[in-house]
Amino acid sequence: MRIFENLESEVRGYIRSFPTIFETSKGATLTNEQGEEFIDFFAGAGTLNYGHNNPLISEALIKYLQKDGIVHGLDMATTAKKEFLQSFQDTILVPRNLDYKIQFTGPTGTNAVETALKLARLVKGRSNVVSFTNGFHGLTQGSSSVTGNNDYRDESYISRSNVSFMPFDGYFGDMNTMSIFRKFLEDSSSGLDIPAAVIVETIQGEGGINVASKEWLQELESICREYDILLIIDDIQVGNGRTGEFFSFEFAGINPDIITISKSIGGGLPMALVLLKPDLDQWKPGEHTGTFRGNNLAFVAARTAIEQYWQNDDLSNAVKYKEKIIKEELQRIAERFKEELDVEVRGRGLAYGFDIKNDNSIAGELSSYAFNEKLIIETCGSEDQIVKFLPPLIIDEEMLREGLKRFEKAIETLMAEKKEKLSGEF
Ligand SMILES: Cc1ncc(COP(=O)(O)O)c(C=O)c1O
Repeated sequence: MRIFENLESEVRGYIRSFPTIFETSKGATLTNEQGEEFIDFFAGAGTLNYGHNNPLISEALIKYLQKDGIVHGLDMATTAKKEFLQSFQDTILVPRNLDYKIQFTGPTGTNAVETALKLARLVKGRSNVVSFTNGFHGLTQGSSSVTGNNDYRDESYISRSNVSFMPFDGYFGDMNTMSIFRKFLEDSSSGLDIPAAVIVETIQGEGGINVASKEWLQELESICREYDILLIIDDIQVGNGRTGEFFSFEFAGINPDIITISKSIGGGLPMALVLLKPDLDQWKPGEHTGTFRGNNLAFVAARTAIEQYWQNDDLSNAVKYKEKIIKEELQRIAERFKEELDVEVRGRGLAYGFDIKNDNSIAGELSSYAFNEKLIIETCGSEDQIVKFLPPLIIDEEMLREGLKRFEKAIETLMAEKKEKLSGEF
């Protein structure tokens, strides 16, 4: 690991949580240089919904490269882009009765968020944007200004102006937090400037697997309509089938004005896009650009994934089936360790959180104990107090159960060590 320590910036993160050199990967596993296989319950933070080196995607990419398909084309018309657009329209938009224009941005999630914020401000001619407590939207300037987590909000490098935060669903327990937003809008002296847009995740992935209810999202949509505010759904982490449906908001029957998508849309390759209602498409040609907007290899991967997984309900049904397994197993494990750990299990689809409420440090320890059991799993939440389960959607049942078993073993070992340490102290 010396080359990383000597040469790579101190900013490196996951390499510290998972200190080994990975060499190959397939489906839901990663293999290191020593040939040890790890089950991946992190999936590139939601980028590998279709698995590592999905054979259909790899085959399509190899064929495309072998025929000298365009790799880089700025935003010129290419065959790969044409075919992606056609597939996305026919397989994703039309069956859902959705009418959006598609804007390709730079290839990471934060590029899509920056674009969405800029467009909303441009269209509405207002600068304020409302975001929600514990929201995470990326780490460039605009995106971090709508990100709640204090770790990313150093006053010296982000502009805190033109953003107001409102409480997310559940922030005050059972209280309906939408009533606070409504009151602030109704009261012209509340200090809240009518925003151009609200930006929200339906499940806060980095913020702690905080799940917004259908009713809360529906009320948010109706407030937006009432006050002429654009509704931006950031579906970067929990879109692309993570909740069982392609878009995470489908269950609520809402119709966002703008949707940001990235991570798994590119089948593992960098890609981001913004879906915007046609009447919002008020850009002048070339007004918002980026050299890598629209990566042609990602178009090939994305089209393959869409055609393979979204022409029928098989993947959606499989996600719903596997959700039951995760939920039941995590609840059983929580029950087993209830004397030592006060746990809330929550989530939707294959995004689950194991929230350890009595001790913020345990989730991080569990992630490293799980690593010792050859399981890759990360934490989330304001204090990294929640273990986050995000396996690839294509994981088979046997591997899913094996991963959960390794997680249980990690808790068992950690709890036994803690007990031993305690008894040694007396
Ligand atoms: C909801 C959400 N929005 C935006 C981003 C930023 O994406 P990226 O890291 O690709 O810039 C993330 C990343 O985790 C995310 O979860």
